[in-house]
Amino acid sequence: MNSSFALLLLRNLKSALAILVLSGLSTTSLAGVGEGQELYNAYCQICHGALGEGQTMGKPLTDGPANRLADQELIDVITDGRAGTGMVAWEGSLSEVEIFDIASYIRNLQGKPALILGGDDSGPSDDPNVIAGEMLFNGSAGCATCHSYDDQGGSVGPSLDGLGSRLSDDALTQALTNPSAPIVSGYGAKEVEQEDGTIVRGRYRNDSELAVQIQSEDGRRWVTYFKERVTAVRDSDESLMPDTFANLGASEQQQLLAFLKSL
Ligand code: HEC
Ligand code: HEC
Repeated sequence: MNSSFALLLLRNLKSALAILVLSGLSTTSLAGVGEGQELYNAYCQICHGALGEGQTMGKPLTDGPANRLADQELIDVITDGRAGTGMVAWEGSLSEVEIFDIASYIRNLQGKPALILGGDDSGPSDDPNVIAGEMLFNGSAGCATCHSYDDQGGSVGPSLDGLGSRLSDDALTQALTNPSAPIVSGYGAKEVEQEDGTIVRGRYRNDSELAVQIQSEDGRRWVTYFKERVTAVRDSDESLMPDTFANLGASEQQQLLAFLKSL
């Protein structure tokens, strides 16, 4: 199964159940499993063995009772641990997504085809890709510095509420991979060249005969530059939006896209 098919599948199912189909043959094609494997090797292997076969300190995961755990039970035992045994609760040290990824990897080790989460609180956020994408957005990808959704986030770029229905797939990909191609109106950048030669770039906010007001790229400061003290004020045809997206791995790009489309 190739990854775009997996994405399509996840997208179509997002409103009902989040069903992650794990083909034992293609562990690398699905985002979560590879990450699950890394996490498993780092935290679980020491007690459960490299392939879940069990070690003196932990039970086997590939046969015995662990094989019969329902998906939710599997998630629960990793989340909550087993009181009075060496199996501690991982809730504090691992995120929900990480626990889901590890559980997915355990299913893989067991040679099982699927990890299915029932829809207790079904909705877009049950989709593991969407959850992972939201974490990227607010975390390492840095999007939240400039963009908001649900009234949270920065104001250098436009709010992304309703993006999924506002932009076609093509327009979304274009906005992410080539931000400067069409610049969203009202969000253009200006460059202010100061007398000492330093150039300040930011979102243009206001202008008057005497001054121009620029919001800094990190969104934190609105600075007024008096025109008599600057040598030039230019429109920039380069977007303020960095090309972070292009530099993400393929699975992270998919997660981010899934999240943006859910908005
Ligand atoms: C310090 C050793 C240790 C570590 C580290 C550890 N476990 Fe365990 N785990 C155990 C023990 C011991 C049990 C058996 C508890 C019992 O008697 O029910 C267990 C039970 C389990 C079970 C239930 C098995 C069953 O038969 O019902 C699962 C699933 C599991 N661990 C997954 C994990 C995962 C995933 C990690 C890493 C995030 C992890 N464990 C880390 C010791 C460990
Ligand atoms: C430094 C600020 C900044 C950062 C960081 C940033 N953006 Fe942007 N983004 C902008 C600005 C400004 C625009 C509007 C100008 C344009 O069209 O390029 C924009 C436009 C967009 C648009 C088009 C919106 C529309 O209504 O058409 C999308 C989608 C988008 N950004 C997503 C992202 C994502 C996802 C990330 C994180 C990977 C990100 N941005 C990071 C500043 C930023």
